[in-house]
Amino acid sequence: MSVATLTSIADFEKSAQEKLLDYVWSYYSKTAGTGQTYQDNLEAFRRYRLIPRNLRDVSIRDTSVTVLGTKLDIPVAIAPTAIHRFAHPDAELATAKGAAAMNTGMVLSSWSTRSLEEVAEAAPGGVHWFYMLFFNDRGYVKRQLERAERAGYSAIFLTIDQPLFPKPGASPRSYPFTVRFPNIFETDPPHAFGTAEYRQSLLELVKEYATWEDVEWVVANTRLPVVLKGVLSGEDAKMAVDRGVKGIYVSNHGGRELDGVPATIDVLPHIVRAVDGKAEVYLDGGVRTGTDVLKALALGARCVFIGRPALWGLAHNGAEGVQQVLQILTEELSQAMARAGCAKISDIQPSLVVHQSCYG
Ligand code: FNR
Repeated sequence: MSVATLTSIADFEKSAQEKLLDYVWSYYSKTAGTGQTYQDNLEAFRRYRLIPRNLRDVSIRDTSVTVLGTKLDIPVAIAPTAIHRFAHPDAELATAKGAAAMNTGMVLSSWSTRSLEEVAEAAPGGVHWFYMLFFNDRGYVKRQLERAERAGYSAIFLTIDQPLFPKPGASPRSYPFTVRFPNIFETDPPHAFGTAEYRQSLLELVKEYATWEDVEWVVANTRLPVVLKGVLSGEDAKMAVDRGVKGIYVSNHGGRELDGVPATIDVLPHIVRAVDGKAEVYLDGGVRTGTDVLKALALGARCVFIGRPALWGLAHNGAEGVQQVLQILTEELSQAMARAGCAKISDIQPSLVVHQSCYG
């Protein structure tokens, strides 16, 4: 399929499935347990219906939004995902270029196969955020924070919903290239990624079970705003805000961690109420169309993030594919805004959305 013939995110999913090697496709698309949460993320969006307002001037639409003080042209950014090298030789460099071309943000994963410095240099005008792992040694954490600040990253994302590292064998084992994580190891371990020995090296360095004390320490030791990713509980959201966290990122890891947790869009209104305007709230999980974006914004998200769809774009055509995935969502959002009576993001209000259960 040529890039011009792909007109929806579903097309990109199909193309990636055709294009990627089996082990990569199954790694990218894997879900926890029976896949209940993964499916629910997708289906839950359809349970919300839109009540448009008409006869407003929507001839010019503005999809821009401010996130952590930075203006983005679109309220859709790139979620942190691991090992972009599996999808394309230019790996995270290409993803960052695709995001920068749309003037939106990208959260670089600690599990990136290119260094955070290389990624920032590849997309100089981009909005770069860094998802940092918790490390056992606070001196190491401090060095990582300083590295990210020096390289121009403007926020630190801490993922709180992945207390257990994947077991050996959970990710693919043999590839035609060496998998390296230059944002985790200052010196590469002697064993291959995916082996029990490699996992042991990781556990010596990385803190598998972080606590609130680790979050407090990070907040106190960086000038950058801190975002907590993986929040599903209003109580946790409040605790985060009390500790100086600036962004609450509603996520269930795309249904890859604890199966049986709710769809993110269903939890979002509770988190927004709990946060009560004291921090920004974001969402990811199952965002596949412009109306999904519209619904999430109406229910209180400042912006949404996409995980797998960005990987599908990357697999299809590198930076251009990532850009096209974002373009499709932007165009769909802009058209949905016009039909819903919204000329700008602040016109997208909770009254735009009704849950289907309200119709009995
Ligand atoms: C992820 N996700 C993830 N999250 C995170 O905080 N750090 C990470 O390194 C990764 N790695 C990762 C790899 C792959 C292959 C996937 C698919 C996902 C989760 C990711 O940030 C995001 O929460 C979900 O992907 C969002 O759901 P959708 O958009 O994929 O439905």
